[in-house]
Amino acid sequence: MAYNTIIFKIRDGIATITFNRPEILNALNAEALKEFSNALDEVNANEGIRVLILTGAGEKSFIAGADIKQFLTFNPLKAKSFSEMGRSMMNKLRELPIPVIAAVNGFALGGGCEVAMACDFIYASENAMFGLPEITLGIIPGFGGTQRLPRLVGGSMAKELIFTGKMIPAEEAKNMGLANKVCSQEQLMDDVIKTAKTIASKGKVSLRAAKQAINNGMNVDLTTGFSIEIDAFALCFTSPDAKEGASAFLEKRTPYFKGSLKE
Ligand code: COA
Repeated sequence: MAYNTIIFKIRDGIATITFNRPEILNALNAEALKEFSNALDEVNANEGIRVLILTGAGEKSFIAGADIKQFLTFNPLKAKSFSEMGRSMMNKLRELPIPVIAAVNGFALGGGCEVAMACDFIYASENAMFGLPEITLGIIPGFGGTQRLPRLVGGSMAKELIFTGKMIPAEEAKNMGLANKVCSQEQLMDDVIKTAKTIASKGKVSLRAAKQAINNGMNVDLTTGFSIEIDAFALCFTSPDAKEGASAFLEKRTPYFKGSLKE
């Protein structure tokens, strides 16, 4: 499929979606949301894709939020439809069965921060800045930010960031648990791809089971969470990978998981 606002590439089982409107710091308008959503459908339909990476074009920005220009034309109905499009796109992203890494190469503000938070984890460049500045525009985060940020960094920190709308640098984001790693701008994609390749070398079924167990277990009580894990553990034995992993260990060789990619 041809896209105007994103670049969609697949290489060695690793897909990359690059938000590509650098002249406005990759801000998201309705077209970008639609295209991103379509690209996620493509990823979902392609069995050969093992890991998805999201990043932004240029060296300045991942995504600087929703395209503010469009707010001037919004009435409540348009606002509702934009927000619903955002929610459906975020749900699609969150529910992808494969691991998704955000390579945050600059500003991750508003919807950009929300997209990054909906990924499984974030690597950030040293110049990256995170924030939910919607309050400064007289609105609040609308793509899940009031729910995801407190779950990642705790309620008090999330409230300070959302109430002030302030931006925080990558290192601070890492210290509060928002980003896993901070790399130089030049190193960012190499580090993300290295981790993506390590993940892609593992079994597809076990990766899926691990992701589902973590995601589904996070919002339930611990006892329910343990039950979710037990079912996910059992699910792993529907694949020959479980026997292959144990056999390879006992035979002192590298396991070959069905359909996995070499590191
Ligand atoms: N929507 C629309 N346009 C945006 C944008 C957004 N979210 N963020 C940046 N841009 C545009 C700017 O208007 C500017 O366009 P221009 O060259 O036609 O004037 C261009 O991108 C470059 O941005 P600029 O503000 O000049 O860069 P900067 O380095 O001085 O500041 C930011 C960068 C990210 C701090 C600043 O652009 C900003 O605060 N953006 C809005 C972030 C935001 O509130 N996001 C949440 C939206 S809900």
